Amino acid sequence: MCSNSSLSLSVSLPSLLLLLLLSFSSVSSIHANKLTHSPSDNKNALSSTNHSMPLSEAETLFKIMDSMSSDRTWRVSYSNPCESGSVWPGIECKLGLDNHLHVSRLDFGTHPNPTCKNTATFPSQIFDLPHLESIFFFHCFTHTKTVLSVSRKVLSHSSLQQLSLRSNLALVGPIPPQISLLKSLKVLTLSQNRLTGRIPVEIFSLTSLLHLDLSYNMLTGTIPHQVANLNILEGLDFSYNSLTGPIPDTIGQLGVLRKLDLSSNSLTGPIPDGVEKLELLSFMALSNNNLSGNFPKGLAKLQNLQYFIMDDNPIYVPLPVEFGKLVKLQELRLSNSGYSGTIPPTFSQLVNLSTLSLQNNRLTGEIPAGFGSLSHIYHLNLSRNLLGGVVPFDTSFMRRLGGNLDLSGNPGLCLSPSEARDIKVGVGVGVCGTSNSKKGSLVEKSEGHQPLPLPVLCSCCQCQLLLVAYAIVFFLN
Ligand SMILES: *[C@@H]1O[C@H](CO)[C@@H](O)[C@H](O)[C@H]1NC(C)=O
Ligand SMILES: *[C@@H]1O[C@H](CO)[C@@H](O)[C@H](O)[C@H]1NC(C)=O
Ligand SMILES: *[C@@H]1O[C@H](CO)[C@@H](O)[C@H](O)[C@H]1NC(C)=O
Ligand SMILES: *[C@@H]1O[C@H](CO)[C@@H](O)[C@H](O)[C@H]1NC(C)=O
Repeated sequence: MCSNSSLSLSVSLPSLLLLLLLSFSSVSSIHANKLTHSPSDNKNALSSTNHSMPLSEAETLFKIMDSMSSDRTWRVSYSNPCESGSVWPGIECKLGLDNHLHVSRLDFGTHPNPTCKNTATFPSQIFDLPHLESIFFFHCFTHTKTVLSVSRKVLSHSSLQQLSLRSNLALVGPIPPQISLLKSLKVLTLSQNRLTGRIPVEIFSLTSLLHLDLSYNMLTGTIPHQVANLNILEGLDFSYNSLTGPIPDTIGQLGVLRKLDLSSNSLTGPIPDGVEKLELLSFMALSNNNLSGNFPKGLAKLQNLQYFIMDDNPIYVPLPVEFGKLVKLQELRLSNSGYSGTIPPTFSQLVNLSTLSLQNNRLTGEIPAGFGSLSHIYHLNLSRNLLGGVVPFDTSFMRRLGGNLDLSGNPGLCLSPSEARDIKVGVGVGVCGTSNSKKGSLVEKSEGHQPLPLPVLCSCCQCQLLLVAYAIVFFLN
């Protein structure tokens, strides 16, 4: 498999923004819901009635805080965690129907939230807090190895909607099947930990899930076909694991999926035909896998696709014409995948395309003339193919792209002399009719001082050296 450390980093700004948008949309809705119940709204009521947190809940919270964080002496100095005006850092409270305040959100790991001690381990008591809706542990378990444990006796009425454990390098072991007891989960993020083992099929009974992110772990095994049960899922991210086997065809049943990221695994086989049913999909990343073979016949049905990122796979088919029909595409990345044939002229219809990466394939023929009128394009890499003919770009197009235009490594390509004279940047192509064009070297910018050919120079200095050597020998004798 090809090394891929720079792939995710080089995803362009627009795609990052889209990712952020997708991952925040559901979070903010949960947040808004909570705000209507924040303790400050209940100030008036507080003066007349005693809303203190029930003792048993407070006791559980004290235990969790003491085991996790030594920022304060929680129990002593802040005996009422939800006290109006001085709510603990890292928690949020909410007035329950029972007229008592309850902890609804826990947020650990980075300032201004409580930091975690080196000995902190995963506190499974959090699942005993009956009104908890969101849990965030970010960069918290970093020293003492700990496992994600969900006790079997989790409250059947768990109100947990968001569980986010991110960037905890000491969080190891498998994802426990008991996670499926958290029936209200809408967002499950277990990204950038050291989780191992298979993805438990039980996870796919969490049918309230909107976002499932297991990326950047060491998960193995296949993607279970039961993934299809998550029928309101909008975002699925299993990228950067060690998953094997095919992408299950049932993935096509995720009818409202908007983001699918399976990049950097060891998945095999073709993109299943079912994918064509994902009509709302706007982001699909499958880079750096072992995917091969033909694309779904109905690829053109993915009319909302804006990002299709699939570098580094052993595809070895002609470049599919259907991509030219995905008119919302902003980023199309298909490098390093053995594509053959010509670049379909229909690619020129992708009016919103900003990045096109086709480098390192076996593409032949000419660059479609229409590419020159792609008005949003700012990154075009066609290097290391077998393209030929005259580059169809005018000077202003090449100036606009500057160093983001790469045509090098196509021995048959050349620039018309008039364009070549005007541009100031190298695009990796020689001028038509000169020897440069055959080598695919950088554009010659000088006005015509042809340097002496190297062999001539060399034989010349060789003879000079020889003469000097003779002179010395002669003199010594
Ligand atoms: C409020 O109730 C808690 C127990 O729920 C009790 O410990 C506390 O003393 C009470 N406070 C007042 C002011 O009554
Ligand atoms: C990729 O798949 C092919 C068969 O489809 C297999 O022979 C090869 O070992 C796989 N490579 C990796 C790195 O998984
Ligand atoms: C291209 O992008 C613009 C602005 O984002 C949008 O209004 C337009 O509908 C897009 N065109 C297509 C064909 O999607
Ligand atoms: C184009 O792709 C090649 C090969 O992957 C890479 O070395 C080069 O830096 C890329 N050029 C640009 C301008 O991104």
